[in-house]
This record gives sequence, C-alpha cells and structure tokens, in this order.
Amino acid sequence: MKPKVLVTREVFDEVLEYLAQSFEVTSNQSDVPFNSETLAIKLSDKQGAMVTLSDRIDTTLLGRCSNLKAVCNIAVGYNNIDLEACTKAKVMATNTPGVLDDTTGDFTWALILATARRLTEAETYLRKGEWDGWKLKQFLGLDVHHATLGIFGLGRIGQVVARRAIGFEMKIIYHDVRRAASEIEQACRTSFVNKDELLGQADIVTIHVPYSSATHHLIGKPELERMKPTAILVNTSRGGVVDDAALIEALRSGAIAAAGLDVFENEPKLNPGFLELKNVVLAPHIASSSKATRLKMAMLAAQNLVASLTGKTPPNLLNPF
Ligand code: DGY
Repeated sequence: MKPKVLVTREVFDEVLEYLAQSFEVTSNQSDVPFNSETLAIKLSDKQGAMVTLSDRIDTTLLGRCSNLKAVCNIAVGYNNIDLEACTKAKVMATNTPGVLDDTTGDFTWALILATARRLTEAETYLRKGEWDGWKLKQFLGLDVHHATLGIFGLGRIGQVVARRAIGFEMKIIYHDVRRAASEIEQACRTSFVNKDELLGQADIVTIHVPYSSATHHLIGKPELERMKPTAILVNTSRGGVVDDAALIEALRSGAIAAAGLDVFENEPKLNPGFLELKNVVLAPHIASSSKATRLKMAMLAAQNLVASLTGKTPPNLLNPF
C-alpha cells in the first residue's frame, strides 16, 4: 500500500505524476484554499502533505492528524507552520530555499523601478485617455542609478538584489541581525550599517527578512519617520514585516515618497487605504512567480515529501529529527 498524501493547492501535472510514483495522491486542483476544518478532515488519514502559505499548520491541526509524518511547504517562508508543534508531533517540516532567489530578486527590481519611475501611475493615466502631450514636469520620478540602496536582510535574496544594484552603480548598504561574511560583503559591494543609519541614508529601502515575532512590524511609524521624505520602500518579503496602516499614513502624509509592495498583512485581504493612493505599486504576492521557478518550488517540495516518507532526511528539513 502506498502512503497517502494531500496536495492542498493546484500544482503542475509533472509534480503530480512524480508524486504518484510513490504515493496515493489526493490533490486540490480546484485551487480553492481549504479552511482549517476541511484541512483537518482531509489530512486525518494522510501520511504527508504538500502545503502552501495559505495553510496554517499548528498544534490544533496536528492533534487531529495522527497519521501525519511530513508537511512540505511550497515556499521558502514558513511562518504558516508552527515548527515547535511539528517537532512535538514528530512531523517533519520542509521548505524550498534557493530555487526562487533570482526570480524574487528580479521582481524586487521590477518593483523598485516601477515605484521609483511611477510606472503604474503613468500607465493608468495613459489608459484613462488623459495624456494630452509631452510635458517637461510630467511624472517626475526618482533616479535609481547612483542612489543609495538600503537592504534589510542580506540573506540569499538580499544578496541577489544587491548584486543587481551594482549594475545601477548604486551605493549599497545593509542591515541584518548578523553581519555577513566579508566575502559576501565584497561580492555585493555593500557595507553594514545599523538600522537607523540605513533608514536615514537610503533612497530606496528594500526588505528581505523572514517573518517572525522578531520581525513583526520591523517597519512601523517610527521607522517610516526616520526615512527621507523622498525615499521609497519596497517589500517582497512577508506581510506583517511592515505595519500597513502606518505605511498608508506615511504615504498619505508624504513622510515617504512611495512604496512598492508584493506582500500585505492579512493576505489576500488588502487594507483599502492602499487602493486610494497613487504613490504605491501593488502586486498580489507574485515575486517568485515565473513558470520555471514555481515548477522548481513545487518539485522541490515533492522531493522533500518523497524523502520524508521513504526513511531519508529530506533535503530541506526545518526541524530537528
Ligand atoms: C515564499 O517562497 O516564501 C514565497 O513568498 C512564496 O511565493
């Protein structure tokens, strides 16, 4: 008898075919997220699950799924999974690091450029038929080249963003809980500064930290007030790292110039304040969404699941076993 696994959201056919070689697979190809009750029922007879950030894996759920041995997130971020609860329940938890760094770094640059050069605001104006000709002072933006880029979090994705910034001949500064090795700093041509220095000096602040209680509202009212009024903020990390209400207020009052956001508190609900603002570029959590990368993420999660349920240590195990 093959072990039973659940794939909680739509994935690529080749991933399902790969899983079917080892497992009896149930998959939610209709792609409507399960609520916690349905998820618990669906998982109650399964040994493994491929889950996404819309699935909360916590003590209550694990208490109802005594057959479960592994939960494999299709994401590098895993704030939807309570690792301590998984360890207590003897459930392996895995994520998908590495395969999405370049794609997420590229998208961060898409947001930086679109925000600095007011691209969506200008396109909306054009589409509405409001353009009546070239004007010297039309949609004046912020130059990215030679500006100062401040990176919160010089992990894998932060490093990709820094390396791309070299091409724009930027001054690159970063802050992290730990200073990076000197080879990394050299490769990224970046220097370590404290949080206040970063906020005060950067023309563009970009965030690449995981979400946790330690990074909850890393950027709130006091931090936004320390930024330059001409500065822009870009977030492709996780909702909750930025205090959305404080950001909306800062964008309204001109405390900062603009923001580019791929992630939000309480996704997929959006604070309606964002929709009233012209100086914010919004995207629906798609930074890692190239076809090649999303396939790699799902396949890596599947490989983690196969390893977990065949007596091997999965390549991306997050909790001690
Ligand atoms: C991740 O991998 O954590 C991304 O946010 C999912 O797209």
